[in-house]
Amino acid sequence: MSKITAAITAVGAYVPDFVLSNQVLETMIDTNDEWITTRTGIKERRILKEKGKGTSFLAIKAAQNLIEKSGINPEDIDLVLLATATPDMPVASTGVYVASQIGAVNAFAYDLQAACSSFLYGMSTAASYIQSGRYKKVLLIGADKMSSIIDYTDRATCIIFGDGAGAVLFEPNEEGMGLQDEYLRSDGIGREYLKIDAGGSILPASAETVQNGQHTVFQDGKTVFKYAVSGMADVSEKIMQRNDLTHNDVNWLLAHQANKRIIDATAERMGLDESKVLINIHRYGNTTSATLPLLMHDFEKQLKKGDNLIFAAFGGGFTWGSIYLKWAYDTK
Ligand code: COA
Repeated sequence: MSKITAAITAVGAYVPDFVLSNQVLETMIDTNDEWITTRTGIKERRILKEKGKGTSFLAIKAAQNLIEKSGINPEDIDLVLLATATPDMPVASTGVYVASQIGAVNAFAYDLQAACSSFLYGMSTAASYIQSGRYKKVLLIGADKMSSIIDYTDRATCIIFGDGAGAVLFEPNEEGMGLQDEYLRSDGIGREYLKIDAGGSILPASAETVQNGQHTVFQDGKTVFKYAVSGMADVSEKIMQRNDLTHNDVNWLLAHQANKRIIDATAERMGLDESKVLINIHRYGNTTSATLPLLMHDFEKQLKKGDNLIFAAFGGGFTWGSIYLKWAYDTK
């Protein structure tokens, strides 16, 4: 019997309607379109405005989009994995609620948190369940309502992030398609450079933490940038080397959309022509767990069966890594 590999067989996505453009940000903080565009590549991001709606709203929409497009029966899903850094609540798994809402009544579900690498790590987790033979349909959703943890008076962070969600289905494949190799890394040195100070077990929420603005993202952008550039390029080069892939063999780079300059540096180290680098950061900004599935969704028609895809991500913690995957289907 041939070895079971874990292939992506369907993709879905959702972004909220409200567009927060650089021009609107110019009216909110001391910044300008030219600065944001040249430093990050971002032109606009989507924001979930409606009160009372959280990450689960985005995740459910993305999953429903996948279910509609693929025609799968949600009752056949074995596991729902929700990659997110912004769960609906600190306790009560958001993924469990999402699974129930989409009709995945026979699945078990849980959340997976590794900052901006959540979806990449989730790909590894989802694929492992499939490769083990234990489960046949694993739905991996990446969703974040970043606007819920951003201080819109802090120009160093509010220009970068946006809200969104994407979903993929992992299934067994006997043609050798799907996940081929992974190289995942982490280093606790990153804890000080990208974080939310309060609301966790070290510093629970109090009137003081709210007053001090300790419930929103702090980042030392320069330091994160430096680690992200070398981290993402290192792992992408390594995964190419150990799979004997040259730049000619790689069809597409799908890199976490945090900053266009970080993506360009990774592509350059891989020797890739820019035509092979999938980019949508100008439309959504950094949607944390949703960047990679949003890329697959937006460029689905261009991906062909057998194409070699390299995924790369970098996030808080620090967490980072690269995955080599063979695309499993053509879109009509
Ligand atoms: N508009 C205009 N000016 C801004 C600005 C904004 N939104 N934000 C910062 N500036 C200013 C700074 O105050 C600074 O001014 P000064 O030189 O007078 O002190 C100048 O621009 C340069 O700031 P700096 O922070 O050094 O800019 P940078 O080139 O490092 O770009 C980031 C800032 C945040 C875009 C960049 O560091 C970055 O992308 N870091 C990685 C972020 C990331 O990927 N995070 C998620 C990881 S998953």
